[in-house]
Amino acid sequence: MPRTALAAVHDGRGDKLAIREIQVADPGPGEVLVRIAASGVCGSDRHVLDGEWTLPTPTVMGHEGAGIVEAVGSGVTDVAPGDSVILSWYYPCRRCRACAAGKAWACTGTRSNECLLPDGTTRLRDAAGVVYPYLAVGTMSEYTVVPESAAIRVPADVPMDVASLIGCSITTGVGAVVNNARVPAGASAAVVGCGGVGLAVVMGLALAGAYPIVAVDTAEEKLAAARSFGATHTVRSQGDAAQVAAEVAEITSGGADYAFEVIGRVETIESLPSLLTTGGVGVLVGLPPQGVKAGIDVLELAESGKTLIGSNYGGAVPSLDFPRLAGLYLAGRLPLDSLISHRVRLEEVNEAFDAMRAGTRTRSVIVFE
Ligand code: APR
Ligand code: ZN
Repeated sequence: MPRTALAAVHDGRGDKLAIREIQVADPGPGEVLVRIAASGVCGSDRHVLDGEWTLPTPTVMGHEGAGIVEAVGSGVTDVAPGDSVILSWYYPCRRCRACAAGKAWACTGTRSNECLLPDGTTRLRDAAGVVYPYLAVGTMSEYTVVPESAAIRVPADVPMDVASLIGCSITTGVGAVVNNARVPAGASAAVVGCGGVGLAVVMGLALAGAYPIVAVDTAEEKLAAARSFGATHTVRSQGDAAQVAAEVAEITSGGADYAFEVIGRVETIESLPSLLTTGGVGVLVGLPPQGVKAGIDVLELAESGKTLIGSNYGGAVPSLDFPRLAGLYLAGRLPLDSLISHRVRLEEVNEAFDAMRAGTRTRSVIVFE
């Protein structure tokens, strides 16, 4: 029986979400119906609302979510009703070469980018027809239906608001450090942009034993938050790349071994190599608008032996990384509760995006009743 769910829907017109009812069908073979308990408000949703990335519409937004399995379709064996699950916004097909090589983040068979289930359809509808779940999860809804490979079971004692953050910002940020860059203990690092994802990078660097950890942001509140998550030094950017590079060089005695861009702005991406020492590694975590090109001083990059690497979803295998991150949280090694600055109702989602645009909140999480 289809059920009605209240959801935050992007109709493709303007940057405000409509809070309205949709219909959610039963899970088909290999699919899982999830009652969403919490959904984080992440920068990638904002890219869509602000017209920087195009998507099929109408779209149920939200890709950073956790909930309880309500029902499973035929053939599902990984999870059962009542399980706590974190949703992966890049469900692996489990058949392509990347999946066979254990690189779920590089799967080429997924249809999550099209906001479609593996069979090319969705289980969401409204009176006008098909509704698309953002990245095949659409977590800003009371219910959603996802492929089995997108629903990762975690221990029931992980609070749902914390679990939701593991679904995107934590995996993206901590994963960039431990999976993509593989930062060794004692290496120096700079983090440019300390929103939810940047603070997760800072946490990952603290976990890895990096030193010094230099946080860079334009907002003083974000720098204070970064210090509480393990940044040992902070640089307040006034938008002057040379000033930021000089301060980072001073703190790191000549440039950082690793530098992370976690905003997705072309200017900060272009200046990332200037924060590095010779042989340093720049990691691109922030995602720019579609079609953006960056200019890099190629001779300088080559002569100084620097590397730039892309990082998508923290190079994670969600079925391994989600339980691992949840375990580190439960052991007191990742202070994920402190990342949540605001718990809001679904109806307050537009205010949460406005606060993100103004840079005044660390992380808002929508909590469902
Ligand atoms: N220099 C330094 N910091 C800046 C600058 C700048 N020129 N401009 C903005 N910032 C800071 C903001 O103050 C904010 O703290 O960058 C941070 C961006 O954080 P959020 O908007 O909260 O975004 P977040 O959810 O962390 O996502 C960041 O990562 O995964 C991607 O798609 C995501 O591109 C997005 C990025
Ligand atoms: Zn996200």
